[in-house]
Amino acid sequence: MHKVALSFNDGRTQFIGVNPNEVLIDAALRHGLTLPVDCREGVCASCKGTCQSGRYDLDYVDEDALSEEDLARGGILACQMRVQSDCTVRFDFDSSLCNSAGPELVDARVTRVEVLSDSTATLHLDAGARAGQLDFLPGQYAHVQVPGTDEWRSYSFACEPNADNQLQLLIRLLPDGVMSNYLRERAQPGDHIQLKAPLGAFYLQQVTRPLIFVAGGTGLAAFLGMLDQMASNPKQMSQPVRLFYGVTKPQDLCELERLKGYEQSVPGFSFHSIVMNPDASWQGATGVVTDLFEESHFNGGEVDAYLCGPPPMVEAVKSWLDARQMENSRIYFEKFSAS
Ligand code: FES
Repeated sequence: MHKVALSFNDGRTQFIGVNPNEVLIDAALRHGLTLPVDCREGVCASCKGTCQSGRYDLDYVDEDALSEEDLARGGILACQMRVQSDCTVRFDFDSSLCNSAGPELVDARVTRVEVLSDSTATLHLDAGARAGQLDFLPGQYAHVQVPGTDEWRSYSFACEPNADNQLQLLIRLLPDGVMSNYLRERAQPGDHIQLKAPLGAFYLQQVTRPLIFVAGGTGLAAFLGMLDQMASNPKQMSQPVRLFYGVTKPQDLCELERLKGYEQSVPGFSFHSIVMNPDASWQGATGVVTDLFEESHFNGGEVDAYLCGPPPMVEAVKSWLDARQMENSRIYFEKFSAS
């Protein structure tokens, strides 16, 4: 049985198990997902999507349904697709079209609050009471209820999915934020906490070119999850991965030891950090992330760039690439604001 992530336009993802020789559309139906279909014969393209990672065969594809170019870009027809490995398939419509139940509500317990820096903490959660692994794609996020309140906040997973459902969320500590106040003042091991997951369309796709990761502040979380997954599967890493990590103050930098560890455990990984407002103790680079960029990092534009951070950072990186006519680079991004 292969695990297939079905990702939809509204940022929802559903994981399904697909039997050998089962077409994707039937497997989806077994899981209560009615993908749009008409002909079921590979002709009408009602069921078309894009395979973003993994191996598969297509039984029959009419040339009017998908062109050679579509096929080369990973175009699939769910009524004709038989997966040969775990896959991620993206559909260009909302999950509501398929009667999707939406993200799962997961009960977890606080294990500990690990203060990483003046401005950042990792919330460790135990969702081990859930039957089976909570699946998500590294880079995706959870919507989390702040205990004792009706407030919900969104945080990327800073870990890969795991059988024990031990989860990590990287959280920016604000002077007066509802989650920040809970973590500083009230959080206790054993606290009950609810989350909805998985959410988000920002995740690692099939790696076929060098990767550029750009993190602003706690945008680092998404990359920690991706790098955990790479460290668990080092043989699958055939491309270099370069992470650029920018923060406001030196005290905001966190998880540097973990990043150094990836230099050992993830083949081809390196990272560079930069601080916007240095103090007397800071010895490293000063400025914004784009100040770290050199054209040689970008393989003539043949890179896949993943950006996660505040909107001005994402826009600055896109402008930097545009100004150098790196139109061949593929850019995936997640913008967020601390709350
Ligand atoms: S339903 Fe017509 S191509 Fe799949």
